[in-house]
Amino acid sequence: MGYNVAIDGPAGAGKSTIAKLVAKKKGYIYVDTGAMYRALAVYFLEKGIKASETAKITEACKDAEVKLSYKNGIQQVILNGKNITDRLRSEEVGNMASATSAIPEVRKALLFLQKNLAEKEDVVMDGRDIGTAILPNADVKIYLTASVDTRAKRRYKELKEKQISCELEKIKQDIAKRDEQDMNRKIAPLRQAEDAVLIDSSDMTIEEVVEKICSLCK
Ligand code: DC
Repeated sequence: MGYNVAIDGPAGAGKSTIAKLVAKKKGYIYVDTGAMYRALAVYFLEKGIKASETAKITEACKDAEVKLSYKNGIQQVILNGKNITDRLRSEEVGNMASATSAIPEVRKALLFLQKNLAEKEDVVMDGRDIGTAILPNADVKIYLTASVDTRAKRRYKELKEKQISCELEKIKQDIAKRDEQDMNRKIAPLRQAEDAVLIDSSDMTIEEVVEKICSLCK
């Protein structure tokens, strides 16, 4: 059994940035489960399936194989043999991933891969249901959050730096919608596990959050 650190929380709380740094510091493998849901979303979008077409999505899950590999320590996502890592981060894909992750077959398609990785390796795994559903016996559980305002501003800055045009108000709306979807779905909704440590990063630096999590690990 690997040493397992689970980090859950809403979109834009800084999970992936923090989890990557913790993994590097501790020598664990970073597993971004959101990227797996995004990979399936890319597949559905490619096939022209809408998020509301549950039967088609359920069917399409049978033909989509998601695998992870690591290049210079950076997670690569392979969909049916093709590396699609650079296509995962758009808003379109994120919104599709949030909507389709509520469908049971979609979650089932990724469950084994996630559990299997954590069994074999020391991992920092981030997502929405890691501490509650995927790794209920994780050694360390973190619920990382921040206010909607803070998360929207961070995302805005990130997009501006990449010279992607965006509006703060629209980002705020998208984040609120994503929270609502992720927290209120029937299966594996986003919530803090009872034994998770709550960290609100609104007024913390990245280094402070990383330090706090590392201090909780072995
Ligand atoms: O963390 P992210 O923004 O890359 O995740 C995209 C979507 O995938 C998120 O809105 C909900 C879904 N997701 C999930 O349901 N369970 C996870 N463990 C990770 C992500």
